[in-house]
Amino acid sequence: MRRTKIKSLLDSGELNSEVLVKGWVRTKRGNKQVNFIALNDGSTINSIQVVANPEELGEDLLKLVTTGSCLSVTGKLVESQGSGQSKEIIAEKVEVLGTADAEKYPLQPKKHSFEFLRDIAHLRPRTNTFGAIFRIRHAMSFAVHQFFNEKGFYYWHTPFITGSDAEGAGEMFRVSTLDPKNPPLNEDGSIDYKQDFFGRETNLTVSGQLEGELGALALGDIYTFGPTFRAENSNTTRHLSEFWMIEPEMAFYDLTDNMDLAEEFLQYLVQYALDNCADDLVFLEKRLLDEEKNKPAAERSEMSLTDKLRFVVENKFERLTYEEAINILRNSKPNKKKKFQFPIEGWGTDLQSEHERYLVEKHFKKPVILTDYPKDIKAFYMRMNDDDRTVAAMDILFPGIGEIVGGSQREERLEVLTARMDEMDVPQEEMDWYLDTRRYGTAPHSGFGLGFERLMIFITGMGNIRDVIPFPRTPGNAAY
Ligand code: 4AD
Ligand code: MG
Repeated sequence: MRRTKIKSLLDSGELNSEVLVKGWVRTKRGNKQVNFIALNDGSTINSIQVVANPEELGEDLLKLVTTGSCLSVTGKLVESQGSGQSKEIIAEKVEVLGTADAEKYPLQPKKHSFEFLRDIAHLRPRTNTFGAIFRIRHAMSFAVHQFFNEKGFYYWHTPFITGSDAEGAGEMFRVSTLDPKNPPLNEDGSIDYKQDFFGRETNLTVSGQLEGELGALALGDIYTFGPTFRAENSNTTRHLSEFWMIEPEMAFYDLTDNMDLAEEFLQYLVQYALDNCADDLVFLEKRLLDEEKNKPAAERSEMSLTDKLRFVVENKFERLTYEEAINILRNSKPNKKKKFQFPIEGWGTDLQSEHERYLVEKHFKKPVILTDYPKDIKAFYMRMNDDDRTVAAMDILFPGIGEIVGGSQREERLEVLTARMDEMDVPQEEMDWYLDTRRYGTAPHSGFGLGFERLMIFITGMGNIRDVIPFPRTPGNAAY
């Protein structure tokens, strides 16, 4: 007999048919006459109830059925007698594929803290919460590809190992096969990377954007979706050292086109989750409600998880310039009462996550797109505005998160670009390939980067970015 996934049994399994299921035991309860086993195979958050008779199947066998053990069960699918589930399986044959020592199994059927579960990240996908999160993560990845495919964008693969640090987005991880104890040296004592694997110094990429631009200026519209690596020592709930980023890059788009696409993209992804991940979202929403109950009333969120998701889909994002935002922040209560950790000094200060969240959560109460940042706090490739002091940048800020998207129109004018590179000490010789796009058939173009895990925090309502990626990498942590 062929195995059926539990999701398909619960959705459309024919009553009174013979079925074969395989999965892991979540709980077992009952008595000498009858055992109720909740079996889960990861295909859905819902477990199927297996009803097992110890006298028929063997008491010794059923003793091996403990939380975490793996079973193969053949039996009849019937309408459930009890409440809480619509269908159950009356077991005719139970095979224990893998036992799990009840004393030692770390996932006991009770509430575990997320800190504890992070330490056993190899087992946490077996919990309801993490099962839900990782199913949604899959759905969101799929939706990313579907969105761009429908729009005629090409999935463009940019290198993970790169010889350029053009982004200047953060510290990089070096990639080298030289012997760290005895590297070849130049006469001046510096390391001779010419003898390294690639004949030059190489690092893990912080962004695929610059190589993405090369694709857009040939194929029109492209997007990247891959891991990026940043060696900054940011131990926050919003930063990973290895995170996934989606970076579309579009020829002939100006900043407004860029914002329109980013807004449509985010709304599409959220709507996709609402339409396709209902069971998992309902579970996560309940989890969040329980968590909120333990908070003081003033800190509780007024909206449930799905309310928040719907709110983003139904409301246009607020668009304003950096300068307008600075004025709002300067006159804000927390600034006047010196409640911000980083007070707003005036035009030119970089915004911290506390400022971004004030704008989104307190002032506008919806997602915000900030544009036209001072050139000095943004990357060299952003297009200079006519005022000569701001660039055509845009950041999208989300409730509970702060920056979720960063992007810009790119500087397509060769002279302006090279002047900016000189000002910001970006070496032109190493970037000749990039400058060639401006030398030959340059074109206005724009793009942005969406942090995939920041999106996942928003969709799942989780409080820590380490809990929305299967194997998080953060300073001091690289297990598995
Ligand atoms: O703002 P960032 O640094 O922009 C870029 O890398 C551009 N090259 C994007 C582009 O225009 N193509 O990063 C983009 C997004 C941020 O808005 C944030 O969502 C996410 O990537 N991000 C991180 N996510 C998790 N951990 C980190 N350490 C992150 N750093 C940035
Ligand atoms: Mg940014």
